[in-house]
Amino acid sequence: MSALTTIHETEGLDEYLEQIEQRLLDAVSCHPGLAAMVGTEALAAGGKRLRPLLVFLAASPDREPPHVAGVAVELVHMATLVHDDLIDRAGYRRGRASAWARFGPGAARAAGDYLFARAFAELAATGDKRAVSTLASACLSLARGEALQRAQTHDPETSVESYLERCALKTGKLFEAACLLGAGVTREEAGELAEFGLALGIAFQIADDILDCTGETIDTGKIAGTDLREGTPTLPLLLAAREDAVVHRALAGGSLDGALVRVAATGALDRSRHVALEYAERARECLNGEVHSAELEAMTYAVVERRT
Ligand code: IPE
Ligand code: IPE
Ligand code: MG
Ligand code: MG
Repeated sequence: MSALTTIHETEGLDEYLEQIEQRLLDAVSCHPGLAAMVGTEALAAGGKRLRPLLVFLAASPDREPPHVAGVAVELVHMATLVHDDLIDRAGYRRGRASAWARFGPGAARAAGDYLFARAFAELAATGDKRAVSTLASACLSLARGEALQRAQTHDPETSVESYLERCALKTGKLFEAACLLGAGVTREEAGELAEFGLALGIAFQIADDILDCTGETIDTGKIAGTDLREGTPTLPLLLAAREDAVVHRALAGGSLDGALVRVAATGALDRSRHVALEYAERARECLNGEVHSAELEAMTYAVVERRT
Protein backbone atom coordinates (compact mmCIF):
# COMPACT_ATOMS: atom_id res chain seq x y z
CA MET A 1 0.00 0.00 0.00
CA SER A 2 2.30 2.77 -1.15
CA ALA A 3 -0.38 5.47 -0.75
CA LEU A 4 -0.60 4.45 2.89
CA THR A 5 3.09 5.25 3.38
CA THR A 6 2.30 8.89 2.57
CA ILE A 7 -0.65 8.84 4.97
CA HIS A 8 1.49 7.52 7.79
CA GLU A 9 3.65 10.64 7.62
CA THR A 10 0.66 12.67 8.90
CA GLU A 11 1.55 14.61 12.01
CA GLY A 12 0.31 12.99 15.19
CA LEU A 13 -0.85 9.80 13.48
CA ASP A 14 1.86 7.47 14.80
CA GLU A 15 1.25 8.60 18.37
CA TYR A 16 -2.48 8.18 17.85
CA LEU A 17 -2.14 4.64 16.52
CA GLU A 18 0.26 3.70 19.32
CA GLN A 19 -2.32 4.90 21.82
CA ILE A 20 -4.99 2.93 20.01
CA GLU A 21 -2.95 -0.28 20.37
CA GLN A 22 -2.53 0.21 24.09
CA ARG A 23 -6.17 1.15 24.61
CA LEU A 24 -7.35 -1.81 22.53
CA LEU A 25 -5.32 -4.11 24.71
CA ASP A 26 -6.75 -2.56 27.87
CA ALA A 27 -10.30 -2.66 26.51
CA VAL A 28 -10.06 -6.33 25.53
CA SER A 29 -8.27 -7.60 28.60
CA CYS A 30 -10.33 -5.80 31.24
CA HIS A 31 -12.67 -8.73 32.03
CA PRO A 32 -10.34 -11.74 32.18
CA GLY A 33 -11.77 -15.05 31.00
CA LEU A 34 -12.07 -17.17 27.87
CA ALA A 35 -13.66 -14.44 25.71
CA ALA A 36 -11.00 -11.91 26.72
CA MET A 37 -8.25 -14.42 26.00
CA VAL A 38 -9.62 -15.21 22.53
CA GLY A 39 -10.10 -11.48 21.88
CA THR A 40 -6.54 -10.72 22.96
CA GLU A 41 -5.22 -13.34 20.55
CA ALA A 42 -7.23 -11.80 17.70
CA LEU A 43 -5.85 -8.40 18.62
CA ALA A 44 -2.25 -9.64 18.80
CA ALA A 45 -2.56 -10.99 15.25
CA GLY A 46 -2.49 -7.37 14.06
CA GLY A 47 -4.49 -6.02 11.14
CA LYS A 48 -4.28 -2.83 9.15
CA ARG A 49 -6.21 -0.69 11.67
CA LEU A 50 -7.76 1.15 8.74
CA ARG A 51 -10.92 2.15 10.56
CA PRO A 52 -9.15 3.92 13.47
CA LEU A 53 -6.96 5.55 10.83
CA LEU A 54 -10.07 6.85 9.13
CA VAL A 55 -11.40 8.11 12.47
CA PHE A 56 -8.18 10.09 12.91
CA LEU A 57 -8.19 11.52 9.40
CA ALA A 58 -11.82 12.63 9.64
CA ALA A 59 -11.15 14.50 12.90
CA SER A 60 -10.22 18.12 13.21
CA PRO A 61 -6.62 18.53 14.48
CA ASP A 62 -7.91 21.33 16.74
CA ARG A 63 -9.72 18.83 18.92
CA GLU A 64 -8.44 16.05 21.19
CA PRO A 65 -7.56 13.03 19.01
CA PRO A 66 -10.63 10.74 19.02
CA HIS A 67 -9.03 7.73 20.73
CA VAL A 68 -12.18 6.19 22.18
CA ALA A 69 -13.98 6.30 18.85
CA GLY A 70 -11.00 4.67 17.11
CA VAL A 71 -10.95 1.90 19.71
CA ALA A 72 -14.71 1.33 19.55
CA VAL A 73 -14.75 1.08 15.76
CA GLU A 74 -11.82 -1.35 15.68
CA LEU A 75 -13.44 -3.48 18.40
CA VAL A 76 -16.64 -3.72 16.37
CA HIS A 77 -14.58 -4.61 13.30
CA MET A 78 -12.73 -7.33 15.23
CA ALA A 79 -16.00 -8.69 16.59
CA THR A 80 -17.38 -8.99 13.07
CA LEU A 81 -14.22 -10.76 11.86
CA VAL A 82 -14.37 -13.31 14.68
CA HIS A 83 -18.03 -14.04 13.88
CA ASP A 84 -17.54 -13.77 10.12
CA ASP A 85 -14.85 -16.47 10.07
CA LEU A 86 -17.20 -18.77 11.92
CA ILE A 87 -19.97 -18.09 9.40
CA ASP A 88 -17.61 -18.35 6.40
CA ARG A 89 -15.79 -21.38 7.85
CA ALA A 90 -12.55 -19.50 7.21
CA GLY A 91 -9.72 -21.21 9.06
CA TYR A 92 -7.13 -18.49 8.62
CA ARG A 93 -7.10 -14.80 9.57
CA ARG A 94 -4.32 -12.24 9.92
CA GLY A 95 -1.77 -14.90 9.11
CA ARG A 96 -2.80 -17.39 11.78
CA ALA A 97 -5.54 -19.85 12.67
CA SER A 98 -8.84 -17.98 13.06
CA ALA A 99 -10.53 -17.82 16.46
CA TRP A 100 -13.05 -20.62 15.87
CA ALA A 101 -10.45 -22.86 14.23
CA ARG A 102 -8.18 -22.51 17.24
CA PHE A 103 -10.56 -22.27 20.18
CA GLY A 104 -13.80 -23.76 18.82
CA PRO A 105 -17.09 -22.20 17.59
CA GLY A 106 -18.52 -21.57 21.07
CA ALA A 107 -15.47 -19.63 22.21
CA ALA A 108 -15.44 -17.62 18.97
CA ARG A 109 -19.12 -16.73 19.33
CA ALA A 110 -18.57 -15.61 22.92
CA ALA A 111 -15.45 -13.64 21.99
CA GLY A 112 -17.28 -11.82 19.19
CA ASP A 113 -20.15 -10.92 21.52
CA TYR A 114 -17.65 -9.78 24.13
CA LEU A 115 -15.84 -7.54 21.64
CA PHE A 116 -19.14 -5.93 20.58
CA ALA A 117 -20.04 -5.34 24.21
CA ARG A 118 -16.64 -3.87 24.99
CA ALA A 119 -16.89 -1.50 22.01
CA PHE A 120 -20.18 -0.09 23.27
CA ALA A 121 -19.02 0.04 26.88
CA GLU A 122 -16.03 2.14 25.84
CA LEU A 123 -18.07 4.53 23.74
CA ALA A 124 -20.95 4.80 26.22
CA ALA A 125 -18.47 5.76 28.97
CA THR A 126 -17.84 9.03 27.12
CA GLY A 127 -21.51 9.97 27.58
CA ASP A 128 -21.73 10.80 23.88
CA LYS A 129 -25.16 9.40 23.00
CA ARG A 130 -24.93 10.50 19.40
CA ALA A 131 -21.73 8.54 18.92
CA VAL A 132 -23.28 5.44 20.51
CA SER A 133 -26.24 5.78 18.19
CA THR A 134 -23.97 6.11 15.13
CA LEU A 135 -22.08 2.94 16.01
CA ALA A 136 -25.28 1.06 16.87
CA SER A 137 -26.73 1.94 13.51
CA ALA A 138 -23.57 0.66 11.75
CA CYS A 139 -23.84 -2.62 13.71
CA LEU A 140 -27.45 -3.02 12.65
CA SER A 141 -26.36 -2.54 9.03
CA LEU A 142 -23.62 -5.12 9.49
CA ALA A 143 -26.13 -7.67 10.73
CA ARG A 144 -28.44 -6.87 7.83
CA GLY A 145 -25.51 -7.24 5.41
CA GLU A 146 -24.65 -10.68 6.78
CA ALA A 147 -28.33 -11.68 6.56
CA LEU A 148 -28.48 -10.51 2.95
CA GLN A 149 -25.34 -12.48 2.19
CA ARG A 150 -26.96 -15.57 3.66
CA ALA A 151 -30.00 -15.05 1.45
CA GLN A 152 -27.76 -14.66 -1.62
CA THR A 153 -25.64 -17.75 -0.92
CA HIS A 154 -25.36 -20.15 -3.87
CA ASP A 155 -27.36 -17.79 -6.07
CA PRO A 156 -25.32 -17.00 -9.20
CA GLU A 157 -28.21 -14.83 -10.42
CA THR A 158 -27.64 -12.32 -7.60
CA SER A 159 -27.83 -8.87 -9.19
CA VAL A 160 -24.90 -6.46 -9.14
CA GLU A 161 -27.21 -4.00 -7.44
CA SER A 162 -28.03 -6.31 -4.54
CA TYR A 163 -24.35 -7.26 -4.25
CA LEU A 164 -23.48 -3.57 -3.90
CA GLU A 165 -26.24 -3.16 -1.33
CA ARG A 166 -24.63 -5.97 0.65
CA CYS A 167 -21.20 -4.29 0.46
CA ALA A 168 -22.70 -1.03 1.66
CA LEU A 169 -24.35 -2.74 4.62
CA LYS A 170 -21.64 -5.08 5.77
CA THR A 171 -18.59 -2.90 5.13
CA GLY A 172 -19.48 0.59 3.90
CA LYS A 173 -21.56 1.55 6.91
CA LEU A 174 -18.72 0.92 9.37
CA PHE A 175 -16.36 3.02 7.24
CA GLU A 176 -19.04 5.71 7.21
CA ALA A 177 -19.39 5.45 11.00
CA ALA A 178 -15.60 5.81 11.40
CA CYS A 179 -15.78 9.11 9.49
CA LEU A 180 -18.75 10.39 11.47
CA LEU A 181 -17.25 9.45 14.82
CA GLY A 182 -13.94 11.04 13.88
CA ALA A 183 -15.58 14.26 12.80
CA GLY A 184 -17.90 14.19 15.83
CA VAL A 185 -21.03 14.65 13.73
CA THR A 186 -24.27 12.80 13.05
CA ARG A 187 -25.08 11.41 9.62
CA GLU A 188 -27.45 14.33 9.03
CA GLU A 189 -24.76 16.88 9.89
CA ALA A 190 -22.00 15.14 7.98
CA GLY A 191 -23.04 15.95 4.44
CA GLU A 192 -20.71 14.43 1.90
CA LEU A 193 -18.33 12.99 4.49
CA ALA A 194 -20.83 10.19 5.13
CA GLU A 195 -21.03 9.47 1.40
CA PHE A 196 -17.24 9.48 1.25
CA GLY A 197 -17.01 6.79 3.94
CA LEU A 198 -19.72 4.67 2.39
CA ALA A 199 -18.22 4.75 -1.12
CA LEU A 200 -14.73 4.10 0.26
CA GLY A 201 -16.00 1.07 2.16
CA ILE A 202 -17.73 -0.33 -0.92
CA ALA A 203 -14.53 0.09 -2.97
CA PHE A 204 -12.64 -1.64 -0.14
CA GLN A 205 -15.03 -4.61 -0.09
CA ILE A 206 -14.92 -5.07 -3.87
CA ALA A 207 -11.11 -5.10 -3.65
CA ASP A 208 -11.39 -7.68 -0.86
CA ASP A 209 -13.61 -9.83 -3.05
CA ILE A 210 -11.06 -9.62 -5.88
CA LEU A 211 -8.29 -10.56 -3.44
CA ASP A 212 -10.33 -13.60 -2.44
CA CYS A 213 -9.84 -14.80 -6.03
CA THR A 214 -6.25 -13.70 -6.57
CA GLY A 215 -4.60 -12.82 -3.25
CA GLU A 216 -1.59 -14.55 -1.75
CA THR A 217 -1.92 -15.77 1.83
CA ILE A 218 1.47 -14.27 2.64
CA ASP A 219 0.00 -10.83 1.80
CA THR A 220 -3.65 -11.11 2.85
CA GLY A 221 -3.22 -13.42 5.86
CA LYS A 222 -6.27 -15.30 4.52
CA ILE A 223 -6.82 -18.30 2.24
CA ALA A 224 -8.08 -17.40 -1.24
CA GLY A 225 -11.12 -19.12 -2.70
CA THR A 226 -13.26 -18.95 0.45
CA ASP A 227 -16.06 -17.01 -1.26
CA LEU A 228 -16.40 -19.53 -4.10
CA ARG A 229 -16.24 -22.47 -1.70
CA GLU A 230 -18.98 -20.92 0.46
CA GLY A 231 -21.11 -19.95 -2.55
CA THR A 232 -20.86 -16.23 -1.74
CA PRO A 233 -21.73 -14.36 -4.96
CA THR A 234 -19.10 -11.62 -4.95
CA LEU A 235 -18.77 -9.26 -7.92
CA PRO A 236 -15.95 -11.17 -9.69
CA LEU A 237 -17.76 -14.47 -9.14
CA LEU A 238 -21.19 -13.35 -10.25
CA LEU A 239 -19.82 -11.56 -13.33
CA ALA A 240 -17.80 -14.64 -14.27
CA ALA A 241 -20.79 -16.92 -13.68
CA ARG A 242 -22.73 -15.01 -16.32
CA GLU A 243 -20.20 -16.09 -18.91
CA ASP A 244 -18.85 -19.39 -17.76
CA ALA A 245 -20.93 -22.48 -17.03
CA VAL A 246 -18.25 -24.03 -14.80
CA VAL A 247 -18.16 -20.96 -12.56
CA HIS A 248 -21.96 -20.77 -12.60
CA ARG A 249 -22.24 -24.37 -11.43
CA ALA A 250 -19.53 -23.93 -8.80
CA LEU A 251 -21.19 -20.82 -7.38
CA ALA A 252 -24.53 -22.65 -7.28
CA GLY A 253 -22.94 -25.34 -5.10
CA GLY A 254 -21.51 -27.74 -7.69
CA SER A 255 -17.93 -28.87 -8.22
CA LEU A 256 -15.23 -26.23 -7.63
CA ASP A 257 -12.69 -27.95 -9.85
CA GLY A 258 -10.91 -25.44 -12.08
CA ALA A 259 -13.55 -22.76 -11.43
CA LEU A 260 -11.26 -20.11 -9.90
CA VAL A 261 -8.91 -20.21 -12.89
CA ARG A 262 -11.89 -19.69 -15.18
CA VAL A 263 -12.99 -16.64 -13.19
CA ALA A 264 -9.73 -14.96 -14.22
CA ALA A 265 -10.13 -16.09 -17.83
CA THR A 266 -13.52 -14.35 -18.18
CA GLY A 267 -12.04 -10.92 -17.45
CA ALA A 268 -14.38 -10.58 -14.44
CA LEU A 269 -11.50 -9.53 -12.19
CA ASP A 270 -10.66 -6.53 -14.38
CA ARG A 271 -14.30 -5.55 -14.64
CA SER A 272 -14.68 -5.78 -10.88
CA ARG A 273 -11.59 -3.65 -10.40
CA HIS A 274 -13.14 -1.10 -12.69
CA VAL A 275 -16.23 -0.93 -10.45
CA ALA A 276 -14.01 -0.60 -7.35
CA LEU A 277 -12.19 2.28 -9.03
CA GLU A 278 -15.52 3.96 -9.79
CA TYR A 279 -16.48 3.84 -6.11
CA ALA A 280 -13.04 5.18 -5.14
CA GLU A 281 -13.57 8.02 -7.61
CA ARG A 282 -17.05 8.65 -6.20
CA ALA A 283 -15.49 8.87 -2.72
CA ARG A 284 -12.92 11.41 -3.97
CA GLU A 285 -15.69 13.56 -5.40
CA CYS A 286 -17.19 13.84 -1.92
CA LEU A 287 -14.10 15.51 -0.47
CA ASN A 288 -14.52 19.21 0.17
CA GLY A 289 -11.22 20.61 1.41
CA GLU A 290 -11.25 18.75 4.73
CA VAL A 291 -8.12 19.28 6.84
CA HIS A 292 -6.79 15.86 5.87
CA SER A 293 -8.21 15.81 2.33
CA ALA A 294 -4.89 14.79 0.82
CA GLU A 295 -4.66 11.79 3.14
CA LEU A 296 -8.32 10.89 2.67
CA GLU A 297 -7.77 11.08 -1.07
CA ALA A 298 -4.73 8.80 -0.73
CA MET A 299 -6.99 6.34 1.09
CA THR A 300 -9.22 6.10 -1.97
CA TYR A 301 -6.25 4.86 -3.98
CA ALA A 302 -4.88 2.65 -1.23
CA VAL A 303 -8.08 0.64 -0.69
CA VAL A 304 -8.17 -0.48 -4.33
CA GLU A 305 -4.42 -0.89 -4.94
CA ARG A 306 -3.85 -2.91 -1.80
CA ARG A 307 -2.52 -6.46 -1.73
CA THR A 308 -3.00 -6.91 2.00
C1 IPE B 1 -11.51 -7.46 6.43
O1 IPE B 1 -11.15 -6.17 6.79
C2 IPE B 1 -12.99 -7.56 6.36
C3 IPE B 1 -13.61 -6.80 5.29
C4 IPE B 1 -14.47 -5.86 5.51
C5 IPE B 1 -13.30 -7.14 3.93
P1 IPE B 1 -9.64 -5.68 6.85
O2 IPE B 1 -8.95 -6.10 5.59
O3 IPE B 1 -9.61 -4.24 7.21
O4 IPE B 1 -9.05 -6.56 8.03
P2 IPE B 1 -7.80 -6.29 8.96
O5 IPE B 1 -8.30 -5.54 10.14
O6 IPE B 1 -6.74 -5.55 8.21
O7 IPE B 1 -7.34 -7.67 9.36
C1 IPE C 1 -16.47 -8.88 5.10
O1 IPE C 1 -16.64 -9.86 4.20
C2 IPE C 1 -16.82 -9.33 6.48
C3 IPE C 1 -17.46 -8.35 7.33
C4 IPE C 1 -17.70 -7.12 7.02
C5 IPE C 1 -17.88 -8.84 8.62
P1 IPE C 1 -15.64 -11.05 3.93
O2 IPE C 1 -16.18 -12.32 4.46
O3 IPE C 1 -15.28 -11.02 2.50
O4 IPE C 1 -14.36 -10.66 4.78
P2 IPE C 1 -13.06 -11.56 4.86
O5 IPE C 1 -12.60 -11.81 3.46
O6 IPE C 1 -13.47 -12.82 5.56
O7 IPE C 1 -12.07 -10.75 5.62
MG1 MG D 1 -15.20 -13.80 5.54
MG1 MG E 1 -13.35 -11.56 1.77
